[in-house]
Amino acid sequence: MVIIKAKDYEDMSKRAAALLAEQIAQKPDSVLGLATGSTPVGAYRELAEKFRRKELSFSKVKTVNLDEYVGLLPEHEQSYRYFMQKHLFGLVDIKPENTHIPDGMAKNIRHACREYDALIDSLGGIDLQLLGIGHNGHIGFNEPAKVFEKETHVVELKESTIAANARFFSSPGAVPRRAVTMGILSIMRAKRILLLASGADKAEIVKEAFFGPITPAVPASVLQLHPAATVIADGEALKECKTL
Ligand code: F6R
Repeated sequence: MVIIKAKDYEDMSKRAAALLAEQIAQKPDSVLGLATGSTPVGAYRELAEKFRRKELSFSKVKTVNLDEYVGLLPEHEQSYRYFMQKHLFGLVDIKPENTHIPDGMAKNIRHACREYDALIDSLGGIDLQLLGIGHNGHIGFNEPAKVFEKETHVVELKESTIAANARFFSSPGAVPRRAVTMGILSIMRAKRILLLASGADKAEIVKEAFFGPITPAVPASVLQLHPAATVIADGEALKECKTL
């Protein structure tokens, strides 16, 4: 695992966008695994800017998002489909049919989960998976647990995750209780992983996840086993990692 210390959020976002752009330059039909949340917004802004400057095209890129809330329509402002449209897809030349997000509205959600893994396989797997990290160490919506859940599945969100995400909703009661997420194996199968972390509130978990034991109690810790994982984190997020 390579850990890169960025100066601040802007620097982290620029470095992340450079790495993603390089991936697309090397393989224009790359399959990108994408994340939502506040952390990657700056990287998406940089990518959209590179597209605007004609330095980058997404015309052959395919994307698979990590997760989606159960029960939110794609048009709902807090759905992850809406987020992706707003922060990236709507700003670049990606083909809508090449963008994939788990279907939180599926009638048979377990079947939809199996189909999502089959879809990732049919695309040839993920070339580069972008991740954020939750305060409890979750990646995607893989919450702390006794075992690593392997495949795409439905999760009951932890109260801490609901509380953290309540800032995007009118009230904590409006936050969906369930979500669909890629599993740990679905994530670990990606050829490369790029995890971003920013801010002092992530400092404790960054230290625990990347310098502590590998355990499903801290799902992101499994990334220590990935052969090509990079973490780009700003000074604040790395402040508890004294050796960096
Ligand atoms: C989002 C996702 C989550 C977030 C994590 C951090 O698709 O999978 O794991 O990456 O909750 O969220 P932020 O970036 O808002 O701190």
